[in-house]
Amino acid sequence: MRIFSGIQPTGALHIGNYLGAIKQFLELQEKEECVFCIVDLHAMTIPYDPRTLPKNVLDAAVCYLASGIDPEKSILFVQSQVTEHTELAWILNTVTPVGDLLRMTQYKEKSRQFQKDLNAGLLNYPILMAADILLYQTEVVPVGQDQQQHVELARTIARAFNHRFGPTFVEPRVSLPKTGAKILSLTDPKKKMSKSVPPSCLYLFDEPEIIEKKIMAAVTDLGREIKFDPIKKPGIANLLTVYSQFSGLAIPKIEKKFRNKGYADFKKSLAQVIIEALEPLRKKRKELLSREVYVREILSQGAKKARSIAQSTMEEVRKKTGLV
Ligand code: TYM
Repeated sequence: MRIFSGIQPTGALHIGNYLGAIKQFLELQEKEECVFCIVDLHAMTIPYDPRTLPKNVLDAAVCYLASGIDPEKSILFVQSQVTEHTELAWILNTVTPVGDLLRMTQYKEKSRQFQKDLNAGLLNYPILMAADILLYQTEVVPVGQDQQQHVELARTIARAFNHRFGPTFVEPRVSLPKTGAKILSLTDPKKKMSKSVPPSCLYLFDEPEIIEKKIMAAVTDLGREIKFDPIKKPGIANLLTVYSQFSGLAIPKIEKKFRNKGYADFKKSLAQVIIEALEPLRKKRKELLSREVYVREILSQGAKKARSIAQSTMEEVRKKTGLV
């Protein structure tokens, strides 16, 4: 089965990216044919500095590798190094209704956030994402909940293309983790943890002191009971989810463990659990940061493999659409 997913190189990854997406990647790469991408072209849709983009791309590669993505098992590459992504995106533009793009939740949010800098790339973002997915004849796309709508649109676009030009693309389906599909903000547990709101984030490579500080300061709810109740106690429910994901303990077990204890005890223990779980990743990242040539070589080999799949899909697309 072919798997594809991508992450934007827009700064450090947070535990939402890890629990929502990367943890799924790690499981899938053991049994499926996985293609993972650093989507630098998507990162251009919001204001950015061209001088720091190359470093951010390299950092994203280091994050993938430090988290356990194995270049022997998975293809890891940079989107802009395989030009078929932009070519297919243009063609998919012509089968995508504008109305479908206008109703995307992420577009609505981002167009509010970047009112003064509302470029067409923000609107067309899901079409490039569909091109990423469809180029590799992807069957399953592991993502967090915020990307589900975009994957469903990619499926609709595949269907529209197949209907208009004949069977060409596999219709992809989304894969969400059972728990952790939407990790919430540490400062406002009604919203998701998001790279664009730095105080909301616990980063994957935060140092232990910072992890402890952020967890102790995380906004929780009234009362003192450690109970999983996402409606009445979204803050505690979110922290219980994180605890469970990093410790491997089921939520009822954790509730029991802290039955007669307060938030402070629970948070102290949670910080320790996260620090320990992420220690090997922090170590591996430090080692990789000093091996830039090695990381670049992985990306270059990855792009070669990705290109060969992408080119064969594009050849068929050109034939079907009359571009000879
Ligand atoms: P990005 O870079 O915003 O996020 C990377 C992955 O992390 C997941 N995620 C979360 N999961 C749980 N809780 C959260 N708070 C949280 N925040 C982020 C995202 O759902 C995502 O899986 N458009 C995509 C990148 C992309 C892509 C693709 C993904 C481009 N082309 C093709 C899949 C297939 C994005 O911006 O992800």
